[in-house]
Amino acid sequence: MNHSSSAAGLAGVVAGETALSTVGKAGQGLTYRGYSIEDLAEYATFEEVAWLLLRGELPTSRQLTEYGQRLQSLRTLPAALTDILERLPAASHPMDVLRTGCSVLGCLEPEDDGRSGLEVADRLLAVFPSMLAYWHHFHTSGQRIETASDDISIAGHFLHLLHGSPASETHRRAMDVSLILYAEHEYNASTFAARVAASTLSDFYSAITAAIGTLRGPLHGGANEAAFDLIDRFESADAAERGVLDMLDRKVKIMGFGHRVYRTCDPRSVIIQRWARRLSVEAADTRLYTVSERIDAMMKREKNLFPNLDFYSASAYHFLGIPTRYFTPLFVFARTAGWAAHVLEQRANNRLIRPGADYIGPESKTFVPLHQR
Ligand SMILES: CC(C)(COP(=O)(O)OP(=O)(O)OC[C@H]1O[C@@H](n2cnc3c(N)ncnc32)[C@H](O)[C@@H]1OP(=O)(O)O)[C@@H](O)C(=O)NCCC(=O)NCCS
Repeated sequence: MNHSSSAAGLAGVVAGETALSTVGKAGQGLTYRGYSIEDLAEYATFEEVAWLLLRGELPTSRQLTEYGQRLQSLRTLPAALTDILERLPAASHPMDVLRTGCSVLGCLEPEDDGRSGLEVADRLLAVFPSMLAYWHHFHTSGQRIETASDDISIAGHFLHLLHGSPASETHRRAMDVSLILYAEHEYNASTFAARVAASTLSDFYSAITAAIGTLRGPLHGGANEAAFDLIDRFESADAAERGVLDMLDRKVKIMGFGHRVYRTCDPRSVIIQRWARRLSVEAADTRLYTVSERIDAMMKREKNLFPNLDFYSASAYHFLGIPTRYFTPLFVFARTAGWAAHVLEQRANNRLIRPGADYIGPESKTFVPLHQR
């Protein structure tokens, strides 16, 4: 029996303040520092959005160029880190690889060596794609890749490293938009974990490591991988309809649907769906996108549930040639901008985050010494 008066999962609880984003607020929708997600996904680049989140204003053209060059110069991995990436098992979960890589970098380039939080944030934004690509190539083909590249954008850089050749402009921009959509989302579970760690005055790397560990689960970041596994198992839209109906009958949750805060639609989903459709046409796909649309329609009909960002991201990423197990790591590349901005915001006006709990255990008991039990 639940005696608690607290909100399960802290649903609806306002746990603090932020100037970074609004999520599902009436009349505002999703905004980053006041700019609508629709405008950012249409007109901005991910680097521009990262600057906005971390520095508070949109960059000038010159600032953006210099920022791109700066991030580009921070992509190289220290030898001690590549050494450890090589020693990790090939079967490791890629999220464990990034979590470990982040921790290792915290030992090699600690914040208290005179680095500012902002410097660590930029380094992590620049280095996570290199880390994943290095580990990937070493463990799939034994290659020790060069992690520097001419690509200015993080999206182009990662796709280039992963595939070994520069991405087409459509693919690069599709990934860039996806990074913008995933960059920030208020007090979601992983961001909250980062803020809790930051509130103890811990270091930047610890906060980001906590966030990566929290993002890994299928109720949060892991949903895009689970959504792809679902879509990919059906040969046709009709088979998907039968299969998903059966899952709903068995009360199985359909990954990529529903949201804690949004009630009628996820504004990010509309944008990534357009990209998924465009990429599916380009790839002459006649199955995945059709299956996705059918599942979307029947979830609306059967449960009045809508797709969240993870659902159509799954097929978009597939068309970009990204292996399914890297979907959540891509979320890390993007959300590092939001996490880092929240850590800086928490530090700027810190108070230890330490909520209370309703006690539901036994009444006071008399202690029985060990020899009498
Ligand atoms: C995101 C999520 C965790 C939000 O959870 P929540 O706010 O705690 O909502 P609940 O899990 O309590 O769901 C409320 C109701 O909708 C149903 N529901 C919610 N999401 C569902 C889904 N994806 N598939 C089927 N039913 C779902 C629940 O079963 C529940 O029904 P009930 O009241 O009959 O028990 C939840 O929607 C979910 O698990 N979605 C799938 C995972 C996912 O896509 N995560 C990424 C989020 S961006």
